[in-house]
Amino acid sequence: MPSRLATSAVIATLLAAAAHAGDIGTDDVARLSEFVRQDCGSCHGLTLKGGLGSPLLPEDIAHYDKKTLTEVILYGVPTTAMPGWEGVIDKDEAEWIAEALKDGRIAE
Ligand code: HEC
Repeated sequence: MPSRLATSAVIATLLAAAAHAGDIGTDDVARLSEFVRQDCGSCHGLTLKGGLGSPLLPEDIAHYDKKTLTEVILYGVPTTAMPGWEGVIDKDEAEWIAEALKDGRIAE
């Protein structure tokens, strides 16, 4: 679907432009939360309770430590539809998402 691809490209460009080394500021938090709800939510459900992908609520991902979860987000889950997000978000952003998913900050 070309329109979806175009949207993804725009999002990737915006994210890349906004990405900067190191800290995650207030603007980043709003942007990343929206990104997780929309982009991750398209498969995992807008409230992250599952869809094509499994639920991502804290109890569902409790078995992952933050480092492993960050790697799942960056590199995807081989042999499944879960893509790697490396190139769309940087490592700091993936770490923030991992942490936010683990403490349930985004689904609220
Ligand atoms: C194209 C659909 C799709 C998108 C978009 C997507 N995922 Fe996934 N995700 C999957 C599938 C399919 C799996 C593997 C099967 C499963 O565990 O549900 C998966 C697995 C995962 C897992 C492992 C879950 C577990 O219990 O083992 C995590 C964590 C995860 N995704 C996080 C994310 C995050 C964060 C995003 C957004 C940056 C995202 N996903 C975007 C489809 C997607």
